[in-house]
Amino acid sequence: MVDLYGLIVLLLALQIVSNEGFTFTKEKVDCFGNPDNGGEPCPTDTEFKEYRSKEYRIQATVNQTINKFLQKRLKPNFSSPHGIVKRADSIGLFRDLLIILDSSGSLGSRYFEIVKQQIGDLLSLFCPLPDAFSSNRRFGYNRVALIQFSSIVKEEFDFDDNRNILEIKAAIKSVPYLGGMTCTGDAFYKAVQMFNTSKGMREGTKHEVLILTDGTANCGKPLSTVLPALHAKATVFALTIGSFPASGNKELASYVSKPTPDHIFAVENFQNLQKLWNLIKAQIGPLNPCIPFDLYKHK
Ligand SMILES: *[C@@H]1O[C@H](CO)[C@@H](O)[C@H](O)[C@H]1NC(C)=O
Ligand SMILES: *[C@@H]1O[C@H](CO)[C@@H](O)[C@H](O)[C@H]1NC(C)=O
Ligand SMILES: *[C@@H]1O[C@H](CO)[C@@H](O)[C@H](O)[C@H]1NC(C)=O
Repeated sequence: MVDLYGLIVLLLALQIVSNEGFTFTKEKVDCFGNPDNGGEPCPTDTEFKEYRSKEYRIQATVNQTINKFLQKRLKPNFSSPHGIVKRADSIGLFRDLLIILDSSGSLGSRYFEIVKQQIGDLLSLFCPLPDAFSSNRRFGYNRVALIQFSSIVKEEFDFDDNRNILEIKAAIKSVPYLGGMTCTGDAFYKAVQMFNTSKGMREGTKHEVLILTDGTANCGKPLSTVLPALHAKATVFALTIGSFPASGNKELASYVSKPTPDHIFAVENFQNLQKLWNLIKAQIGPLNPCIPFDLYKHK
């Protein structure tokens, strides 16, 4: 039985949500049906709480993106300049990050631009300064490669095509929108091949994948045939945009490394995605021009 309070909360949640132009998944609405007649059970109290506060959810995603992806420790070390690493520091501190960009028809070219903008901005928050992606070893460096996919998979740049963050941001900006289907399995297959020294990947670095997607796969190789190989090569993170039925959430969770909650970052819509970088900046505060990673923990 749905109690009156529960119903009111759900109706309020639906109203808030529809005002924001965000579509509720069918499963949640189905709970209005007669439960004895095979309707879905209504959301639990915890789920109600989630629906009640959009602010809470986006802030939780911001925190998670900072703590689990961008850095390992936010506390600034005031006795050393932010994020400085020495030439002698081990290469094991750095990452070779592969970005997998969903370019399918559901995004549309306008939202694709937002996604690209946010990725470039996120990368600019990586430490060490002055340029976390400088190929000049003295300044310490990460590398990034990018592939995009829809019905096809396209390599845009590999790990050593760009020499600094400005080149990387420009390269991301110029990635053309494809449109088409969502062959995620094909993208993962290509991703496995990208982790190869012939693509500028280094041995001894952290090998990471960040996939940005707004939907589940609807074409291409079965995911179960490619994910084990990818997980063996790299730590996989996902930034997901939208809300999905339980089967969709399960699929998206299967993309990422374990423990799942540490590797999946969800925003409900493109409006929230557009806010992400500003909220991250606000959270780390003006004292941190970049997000220091833990130089000591990972040696
Ligand atoms: C996010 O992190 C800040 C600072 O650590 C904390 O005050 C806040 O409660 C966190 N918010 C959520 C939703 O986790
Ligand atoms: C902070 O930086 C100083 C100087 O680089 C270093 O000696 C010290 O170990 C660092 N402290 C922590 C907690 O990492
Ligand atoms: C790396 O790429 C080369 C050239 O494309 C290929 O011959 C080799 O098998 C690849 N190595 C791995 C481990 O996939």
